[in-house]
Amino acid sequence: MLWWGPAVDNVVLGVCGSVAAYRAADLARELMRRGCTVRVCLTESAEKFVTRALFEALTGQPCLIGAFEEPESGRMAHIDWARQAGLLLIAPATANTIARLAAGVADDMLTTIASAYTGRMLIAPAMNPSMYASPALREALATLASRGAEIVEPAEGDVACGEQGQGKLASVERIAGVASVVLSASHALSGKKVLITSGPTREPIDSVRFVSNRSSGKMGSALARAALMMGADVTVVSGPSSAPLPIGATIVRVETAEEMLKGALARVKDADLVIGAAAVADYRPASPEKGKIRREAGRIELEMVANPDIIAALASAAKKGARVVGFAAEPGPDGEAARVKLARKGLFAIAVNDVSAPGIGFDADENELTLVRADGGEERSGRRSKLACALWLLEWLGG
Ligand SMILES: Cc1cc2nc3c(=O)[nH]c(=O)nc-3n(C[C@H](O)[C@H](O)[C@H](O)COP(=O)(O)O)c2cc1C
Repeated sequence: MLWWGPAVDNVVLGVCGSVAAYRAADLARELMRRGCTVRVCLTESAEKFVTRALFEALTGQPCLIGAFEEPESGRMAHIDWARQAGLLLIAPATANTIARLAAGVADDMLTTIASAYTGRMLIAPAMNPSMYASPALREALATLASRGAEIVEPAEGDVACGEQGQGKLASVERIAGVASVVLSASHALSGKKVLITSGPTREPIDSVRFVSNRSSGKMGSALARAALMMGADVTVVSGPSSAPLPIGATIVRVETAEEMLKGALARVKDADLVIGAAAVADYRPASPEKGKIRREAGRIELEMVANPDIIAALASAAKKGARVVGFAAEPGPDGEAARVKLARKGLFAIAVNDVSAPGIGFDADENELTLVRADGGEERSGRRSKLACALWLLEWLGG
């Protein structure tokens, strides 16, 4: 059946000039198997590797290549496809197309669709490992991520040119899995204001050293991206972290717990949902040195004082009816300690982050959450990507 009219599971699959282009055929089928309607747009370079006929036969839909093609007469295809897509997925994405997308170039059909498109975007790069490591490519990807695109990182392994390293297109299952997660996001937070604290804090010891923790900020970044996908107006108060935060969110950068408290308190009154995903240092050095402490000092003693309890302060300052949710890093999935904290701090719920299991929690790309709610309910996310965890959590909290 030909798709007509916008639908969330309409996928425009952009295919670029990479050896991995042949794998886009399986990807199109896998997306269709998951219930998506798929239309393919090839770049002219992609057509050197795969054909229009292949994708038209596989999808039962027209396939676009040239910038001036118009399969449905009287409609401008680039606008038409951009309006109808629930997801623009570019796989494989070449270095060339990624750079053009980041720069806003629209000189072929795929980049013209992308420039007219305002929805959810997923990019799965594939290229030689040196190309993938190049500063220009990294910057272009960071730009796209900061605009809200999800990047499905390539895998490590042998690539077609015989080199070893990161550059191989991620597996069809992985790309289709992330596409399903992105497509599954509802608009339950539409019109809602969401305030997120994210990342670690840094507590100065002297002018060059600090006490911090292993939080990467990836969970806060995933929450911000997920909340934007679900239609929220998002503010992130973030400690120092290299995890890309979407530019669709208002970002407030802070260093210390006290700055984070000030930054978040100034914005909490507006928020309908407050999520404390930051790993705030519990203690800070009582009197940081003004200069640099020298080794000649021999032995030093650091007196530490307790930092403010940010989430408890936000819970008491939030407007009536706002949901305030904490994160608790616990060495195990047990919800008991969380239940005590929840009551003490007056929270709506706590998401327990099991930091004892390998591969999840701090600095990892996956997580496993137990949501302990004040009404006594308890839910488990199961192990999934941080983005999938974030969407799962927000669907529970926003509903
Ligand atoms: C055999 C061959 C394989 C290529 N594979 C890749 C690739 O995997 N990734 C990539 O970024 N570029 C690759 N290139 C280079 C791109 O095809 C080239 O940069 C082209 O301009 C990309 O155009 P497009 O981005 O419009 O598809 C390859 C080129 C050749 C000749």
